[in-house]
Amino acid sequence: MTDGNCHDEYGDAFVAGLEWMWGEGFLSPGGAEEVARIVAGAPLAGARVLDVGCGLGAIDLLLVERFGAAHVTGVDVEAPLVARAAARVEAAGLEDRISVHKVSPGPFPFEDGAFDIVFSKDSMIHIPDKPALYAEVHRVLVPGGWMVVGDWFGNGLEPTPAMREWLDAVGLTFTLESIEASAGLVEACGFTGVEWCDRNAWYAEAMAEEIATLSGENYPRLVERLGADAAAQRLESSTKKKAVVDGGELRPGHLRARKPP
Ligand SMILES: C[S@@+](CC[C@H](N)C(=O)[O-])C[C@H]1O[C@@H](n2cnc3c(N)ncnc32)[C@H](O)[C@@H]1O
Repeated sequence: MTDGNCHDEYGDAFVAGLEWMWGEGFLSPGGAEEVARIVAGAPLAGARVLDVGCGLGAIDLLLVERFGAAHVTGVDVEAPLVARAAARVEAAGLEDRISVHKVSPGPFPFEDGAFDIVFSKDSMIHIPDKPALYAEVHRVLVPGGWMVVGDWFGNGLEPTPAMREWLDAVGLTFTLESIEASAGLVEACGFTGVEWCDRNAWYAEAMAEEIATLSGENYPRLVERLGADAAAQRLESSTKKKAVVDGGELRPGHLRARKPP
């Protein structure tokens, strides 16, 4: 780790733990239903979509199969995840509609105006320079294009000890902004119609189910799947996350904006 980004942070057991909680191919919570909420009303049918931080690619299949995107380009910084996403695309026979690429952090390797929609779910949290990120999103969108994002946000305050404990336990590199500050940065890049929605209340409820999948009678199966150390780490990390979600310090949210026509 030399550049503050997170490549090689998603090891096999860690990824298996995320899929255990959130479903095969998903590295973030809420599944197809939450994706549907993020993209609701955006003109996905026939669109050329960039997915920033595509992970295992399950969402890219949804964007094509369920929401009718013409083509999805998924990018991610972790080669093993991209390889698994590519295998998923191939197994679905969607190579002509979805391409996935391992990229380096920083500017996107795409021309200006290459996409109608830039989508991302729970990945921008890993990117430290938010103004540069939103400027890149703006650059690769066509005039009139949409940015539709779900992400993790903070509350804009200094992290409490509970937050620091969760950040230590989760072991990923995060740069958490508040959703209000993020909306301001998006607007400062030239986007209009900036809208956001706080999903903390939903996730606070969903966390009970998340903890249940990891504990009680499920725990021995989790140990069998991940190994004892990774299983213990998974449960500890989610338990600490519950505290910061309940306390309002970690707030999933949706953020969308338009590039002016
Ligand atoms: C929590 S996962 C979410 C993956 C996927 N969007 C999902 O919801 O299943 C975050 C992803 O962001 C990727 N990532 C981290 N930094 C990135 C960057 N600078 N550019 C693109 N992807 C990045 C990680 O490798 C990881 O796959």
